[in-house]
Amino acid sequence: MTDQLQWVDEAWQNVVEKVDKTSKSIGANFPHASENGKYVLAEPYWWTAGFWPGLLWHVYRDTKDARLKELAEECEAKLDVVQQDYYRLDHDMGFMWTLTSVAQYRLLGNEVSKRRALLTANLLMGRFNVNGNFIRAWNPWFEGEDNRGVAIIDCMMNLPLLYWASEETGDPRFKNIAQKHAETVLNHFIRSDGAVHHVIRFDPESGEMIEALGGQGYAPYSAWSRGTSWAIYGMALSYHYTGEAKFLETAKRVAHFFVSHLPDDFVPHWDFRLPADVDAPRDSSAGAIAACGLLLLGDTVPETQSRMYKVVGEKILHSLYKNYGDWSGSEEGLILHGTSHFPEGKYLDNPLIYGDYYFVEGLARLKGYKELFW
Ligand code: GLY
Repeated sequence: MTDQLQWVDEAWQNVVEKVDKTSKSIGANFPHASENGKYVLAEPYWWTAGFWPGLLWHVYRDTKDARLKELAEECEAKLDVVQQDYYRLDHDMGFMWTLTSVAQYRLLGNEVSKRRALLTANLLMGRFNVNGNFIRAWNPWFEGEDNRGVAIIDCMMNLPLLYWASEETGDPRFKNIAQKHAETVLNHFIRSDGAVHHVIRFDPESGEMIEALGGQGYAPYSAWSRGTSWAIYGMALSYHYTGEAKFLETAKRVAHFFVSHLPDDFVPHWDFRLPADVDAPRDSSAGAIAACGLLLLGDTVPETQSRMYKVVGEKILHSLYKNYGDWSGSEEGLILHGTSHFPEGKYLDNPLIYGDYYFVEGLARLKGYKELFW
């Protein structure tokens, strides 16, 4: 494929130049979504806190620009107060500490980063519901809300912190819990056609499934595209760490659903199953996440099966670069046209830090950096 990938070097150069510039305005902070050309900063408590430092680590790995490493490490240190704030920690600590502490440790071996990541893995493991075999997603968002039995598809990307912790310590408990959660996702979230539920409510005592909820998708039985992407990449990663064929089969089934619903430019609408009278903006972030999952699948399955995953993963990233990327303006975001939360009307046509992050991760893989932070 190398001949066809000349655009990757050009795209990477654009990323490096743009991140050099935006790192001076964003600094060691936590950008979330870009509005009017400028990233809105979030508190380090928000689930997206790892994406900017993670993106900096990808660029640092290639350029060895010490300034980017320092910013990423400063962001990581800022998460220490979050780690102490028990009531505000939820399952997304996987996203947050994998792209900060685990990334640091994998690249440079800092023992403090390792301790932070292991402590977080223990906290994440503590959210496991043993009767339902799921990791509880959220704490109450408002006084009196009962979220004890709620799990969401996004959590598939929190599991790599647990897989890493087992590899690092030799203690199988972390991995066993991750695997149990992934099995629950396979049994309850993934439908036979490969579409995915965003949210499932279980009885927190018995663990029985109660209902599927629409969450950030249009409806309980629609097909939220970013949730589909979390499932592709998360299942591919669960296969990568466990070798369990059922996770690979599931990743492929969801990938086939995703690919067969892509529009001509390979970048998905925010939900694949919408009534005709509902707006259907693109979600570029769903494209970037899925591309990373497809590229991992392409490197995982036998050569005879890998072409479709590699080709579509590359086509998505190419389209994001050419049709959705901002490479010359004053916009801080890299990739335009993300949809954060359509049902709540939040950021419906904006650069999103996770879209930028996964675009850069995918590009780095196409450049040949195959070692995962996840
Ligand atoms: N994890 C929340 C989202 O995908 O928007």
